[in-house]
Amino acid sequence: MNRITSFEQYQQEYKHSIETPEAFWAEKAEQFTWQKKWDKVLEWNFDEPTIKWFQGGQLNITENCLDRHLETRGDQTAIIWEPNNPKDEVRKLTYKELHAEVCRFANVLKNNNAQKGDRICIYMPMVPELAIAILACARIGAIHSVVFGGFSYKSVADRIHDAGCNMIITVDSASRGLKEVPFKNIIDDALQICPSVKKVIVYKHTNENVKMVANRDVWWQDEMKKCSSNYPAEIMDAEDMLFILYTSGSTGKPKGVVHTCGGYMVYVDYTFRNVFQYNDKEVFWCTADIGWITGHSYSVYGPLLAGATTLLFEGTPTFPDAGRFWQTIDKHQVNIFYTAPTAIRSLEAAGLDFVKPYKLDSLRVLGSVGEPINEVAWHWYNKYIGKEKCPIVDTWWQTETGGIMISPIAGVTKTKPGFATLPLPGIQPALMDEKGNEIIGNNVEGRLCVKFPWPSIIRTTYGDHNRCKENYFETFKGYYFTGDACKRDEDGYYHITGRVDDVIKVSGHLLGTAEIENAIDMHPDLVESAVVGYQHNIKGYGIYAFVVCGHERKDTDLLIKEIIETVTKNMGAMARPDKIQIVKVLPKTRSGKIMRRILRKIAEGDIHNLGDTSTLLDPSVVEDIKNGAV
Ligand code: WT7
Repeated sequence: MNRITSFEQYQQEYKHSIETPEAFWAEKAEQFTWQKKWDKVLEWNFDEPTIKWFQGGQLNITENCLDRHLETRGDQTAIIWEPNNPKDEVRKLTYKELHAEVCRFANVLKNNNAQKGDRICIYMPMVPELAIAILACARIGAIHSVVFGGFSYKSVADRIHDAGCNMIITVDSASRGLKEVPFKNIIDDALQICPSVKKVIVYKHTNENVKMVANRDVWWQDEMKKCSSNYPAEIMDAEDMLFILYTSGSTGKPKGVVHTCGGYMVYVDYTFRNVFQYNDKEVFWCTADIGWITGHSYSVYGPLLAGATTLLFEGTPTFPDAGRFWQTIDKHQVNIFYTAPTAIRSLEAAGLDFVKPYKLDSLRVLGSVGEPINEVAWHWYNKYIGKEKCPIVDTWWQTETGGIMISPIAGVTKTKPGFATLPLPGIQPALMDEKGNEIIGNNVEGRLCVKFPWPSIIRTTYGDHNRCKENYFETFKGYYFTGDACKRDEDGYYHITGRVDDVIKVSGHLLGTAEIENAIDMHPDLVESAVVGYQHNIKGYGIYAFVVCGHERKDTDLLIKEIIETVTKNMGAMARPDKIQIVKVLPKTRSGKIMRRILRKIAEGDIHNLGDTSTLLDPSVVEDIKNGAV
């Protein structure tokens, strides 16, 4: 498959993709296995929105991830699995083996009554079976909804409920670092409030003793024994749903972002090959959990579509020590390494003694994803990990975009510390001013939008199309709005500055402040709360919660501990506030709206310049809050 190999070629491809987008994407799509070719490349309207790519085309993405490679690379390793504990055994699956396992598990799904179009929730740690489960769902035409293993039973239950899942795939338990996560117990709790679920398939991973419910729960391994490794792929329409993935929004309710089969496949493959300049036989490692979009697109689908070897890592960057990433790179001779700024910052803070023992000479390309990378971290990554020899691709994209949108192309286009740089072919970014006009020219700043569809753009939010419309297509008419602010410098390079809505990026995880507030408010003694982000050296943003207690509690320390436990239970440990301040009242306007602008300033420690507080119902409350800042 063709790949961009020079800056001139990038410019040509870009021009072609803008002038004749349909011809451009049709050429890319030609390279896949289709059961039936499409009738029409693109039909779209951002007002509705309706976006259809490759209409009339029929395919199965797993034929393109697996079957297509059997002849040419059947014995090549598809997945390398590095377990949580480096002393445990590594597992490797060739394309042939992965194909057989996926087909066998597709039969297991069918035997357990899963049908095309069903929604299946996958709640698993980073084990090869997670990739197998995803691909088996795609093979039978069921829609997978992977929920990140860090979410609590309540968050899992909300997501199962919203998608109307009737089946769950999980494990008995797993370890992350020194922590045990009781996956099956969490599912048992979630199912107390999710009557739609009829079947739970449990992969025996740790041998932990778990309760199995008769007629509902079955063991993965037992079911696999009953099944053959032959399963002809279900034929899907290009616009049939492939998966749902929940992401946080401005309201307390997460949004089920929907991606479809054809467009997602074409875009993820194209971006994987080009951005990372993947060469045959190289080992690619994306450290993201498959519970997030990065893991879907660049741990599973992208690499497998390209016939790559992808490394899945079960553990954490700091177990058994802060050298684990670097040790793993040497151990498996990783060529392309893709991680998050928050991980880079925490490993930088751990010190060079954890880096020095390792050669890191297999590395060729480094990637960054999920949040802005500050210049200090960029230089550290470049110098100590890439040894100033590896281009760093700072990739900007979102759950909703399905694949990388703005990014350098490794070794082909220029990098600039802190900049995601240039749009990939097919992507037409636009910066908008407050009045909704597009800002033309360079050296400008605005809200980041995209003005033309690309194949893996969000199609809908599951079960609530209007929410998709309001959220992404109404702020700026005729544009997809990203929710980010962005600068375009004198050379036309893009630098994403951060979110402009009520979501915060905490260690690379997008969390809705309203969702965290809902979790906090479950504490029986609290009346209300307001959560804002503040800049944090390692996490990017930390969580600062202002809480109002219904009656006086003198045992502040205990109360704070209880609040943290409440959030862990109702949302998950990653949403735990870093700072909690108990206040008498929240600063509200006369119409009852919380003035978050003021709380943000207080959380940042910027208390001398709070701006206009005259519209507050009671401006004096600000003094109290300022004085009690933690
Ligand atoms: C938000 C999307 C990208 C997939 C994983 C996260 C922020 C993402 C960058 C980057 C600056 C970035 C944006 C975006 N973001 N990548 N390279 N530079 N900011 O997907 O959880 O949907 O989050 O992450 O704010 O809107 P997500």
